Amino acid sequence: MSTSASMSASASGPATVSALTAEFDDVAGWTADAVEQLGPAYAIPAACRGSANPAALAWLAEACELSPGTRLLDVGAGVGGPAAWAAERFGVRPILLEPMPAAGRAAARLFGLPVIAADGTRVPLRDGSVDAAWCLGVLDVVRDKAALLREVHRVLRPGGSLGLLVVVARGRLVLPAPEGNVFPTRRELGGLLAATGFAPVQEIDRPDAPPSWKRRADRVAAVVASQHRADPAMALADRQGERLGRLFAAGQIAVRLVHVVRRPAPRPVPPESRPAPPGPEALVRTICGGER
Ligand SMILES: C[S@@+](CC[C@H](N)C(=O)[O-])C[C@H]1O[C@@H](n2cnc3c(N)ncnc32)[C@H](O)[C@@H]1O
Repeated sequence: MSTSASMSASASGPATVSALTAEFDDVAGWTADAVEQLGPAYAIPAACRGSANPAALAWLAEACELSPGTRLLDVGAGVGGPAAWAAERFGVRPILLEPMPAAGRAAARLFGLPVIAADGTRVPLRDGSVDAAWCLGVLDVVRDKAALLREVHRVLRPGGSLGLLVVVARGRLVLPAPEGNVFPTRRELGGLLAATGFAPVQEIDRPDAPPSWKRRADRVAAVVASQHRADPAMALADRQGERLGRLFAAGQIAVRLVHVVRRPAPRPVPPESRPAPPGPEALVRTICGGER
């Protein structure tokens, strides 16, 4: 029987909290149990719960120029599949940040990676302390998207890369969204990133997962479903998944991979090289001549 989803429902009231908790905490913990039953080959595909896959992760890793030793912060890391993949394939040093306790414990248990239990809008790391960041499948479930992006900007070194996987709306949704999900349009996403200090580099549609990967993820999901069929948290998580599936099938949402870089902070200008304030003549010229 789940604990966190039902506890959230009674303690916090709104169904939204419990739907997200069921999906991202209860099912996350059960996923780690199922992986332990099936074997390590299932771990990374099952623990990529933001719809990433090897092709998507490779694109993000190459775009962000990950290399051995890169300090990669994964914000909303979930069960840790993407960070574990990056550590295995690119030799990065990942730091996982995840607010849901069972998900964080699952990531630590499956991959032995360091997990910070915190919210992406308040990251307990120093300014400029990470080389690159990922945020995969997270933005649409975060209410204050700008606050999260500002925090990522703060902890990222100047010029550092941020790789995102974002579910975007292709206009106004007609079908119901999963509870707690607010999908930005591509235009809104671009505006948010620009406003929080990121410069665009490239974005693409998410490439498909190979069948071998999907097969392993599906096998773990089937074990979880069979073992927790009667749990109310499973029903809530299923409803979230069904709503998402219907929106994809209707073409109302799509998954984009986005690479942006942290714009360097403007260098302070030393007082002696600052231009003198314009005299009255210059002011007249500026106003009349339309110079900007
Ligand atoms: C769809 S899952 C993606 C997990 C992981 N990034 C992946 O790709 O496998 C979304 C994750 O975002 C996390 N999340 C939700 N709100 C968050 C917030 N305010 N700050 C950080 N993470 C958050 C959830 O707990 C969940 O683990």
